[in-house]
Amino acid sequence: MRFVRDIGLFENIPILVRATLNVPTEHCVIADEYRLRRTIPTIRYLTQRGARVVLISHLGQKGTETLAPVADALRKLLPGVSFFPETIGASTRAAVRDLMPGKVLVLENLRRNRGEVMNDVTFAHELAALGDVFVEDSFDTCHRTHASIVRLPKILPSYAGILLEEEVAALTRARTPTHPALAIIGGAKFSTKEPVLRALIATYDRVFVGGALASDFLKGAGHVVGKSLVGSGGSAQIKELLSNPKLVLPIDILVVPESALASADARSHARVALVEEVRSDEIILDVGPATTVLLGELIRRAKSILWNGPLGNYENGFADATNMVARAVASSSTDSTIGGGDTVASIEKLGLLSQFSFVSTGGGAMLEFLAHGGTLPGIEALG
Ligand code: 3PG
Repeated sequence: MRFVRDIGLFENIPILVRATLNVPTEHCVIADEYRLRRTIPTIRYLTQRGARVVLISHLGQKGTETLAPVADALRKLLPGVSFFPETIGASTRAAVRDLMPGKVLVLENLRRNRGEVMNDVTFAHELAALGDVFVEDSFDTCHRTHASIVRLPKILPSYAGILLEEEVAALTRARTPTHPALAIIGGAKFSTKEPVLRALIATYDRVFVGGALASDFLKGAGHVVGKSLVGSGGSAQIKELLSNPKLVLPIDILVVPESALASADARSHARVALVEEVRSDEIILDVGPATTVLLGELIRRAKSILWNGPLGNYENGFADATNMVARAVASSSTDSTIGGGDTVASIEKLGLLSQFSFVSTGGGAMLEFLAHGGTLPGIEALG
């Protein structure tokens, strides 16, 4: 893999950068700029050397959103940024031709064109026509086999950006942690998390499972999980993992009756229950206080910690355990690596991000990197 510092010529060269502009938005307003701040070192490195920088990215899963407000937000962090409302074609090529050295042009959402997710060769060539060099700096999407990620680097001379280089170095280190090593995995969907759980069980001393994922395991252990979100299938694999002594599950949880979930004061209906005490009409929304004490102890003893995924239903305000773990990890001197959109957002809200050794901009990408031997399709494509 070659890196941006290996690019020989910069002055007046159009350089296409796959940037991490997929930020959370609420009604077209950017809710969190963390990824934008992390993308700046590569852009600045290129503009300071006189390159004409063309940023390509997606925003939102479906491609319906416009990157215009993201370009506005980026301009506030870095002068010289403008937006062009198309992604490919003659008018886009003309806009790139008109771009001055040292300036940045953000193109419209890649996913507005079906060729992106279809990994279409013609679309990749249309993108390649916009630059002389390609820089991959969007680690968060390197697990996707999309045209801008796996096909474009095969067409143009390609390099890893500064953020991608940092991500690969830090997460490669996290694959061989200092012991005792603790992994904390939250979020949902056993089917997608199974590979990473297996990889972590092989290398970490304790793997704590929280979030909706814990309900899958509690169900597999024969407990009633009521109306909690559980994935389908995987019960044989769950049973096998349950027999592994490295796996740690919640011992108590926070539950509310499903009927109270929609009410504005759902939290006031919550009760703490032991994992064997959940009623059939209840839904599990967070891990309980005894579990956070247990986790606190595991954190205190660990020499390295890897964390991805909130422990409770964070979006609906069940964030106590996640916040407690964030504070405990932040105040320890442990080598800590965290990732996942919701996890990072919750820690940023607490103002604690700077106290973690490494914050990954990847969510699914981080998990897949760890699960699949320390690489991803978008990294492989760089050669
Ligand atoms: C992410 O936010 O995890 C990445 O940007 C990937 O986004 P996607 O799930 O829309 O592919």
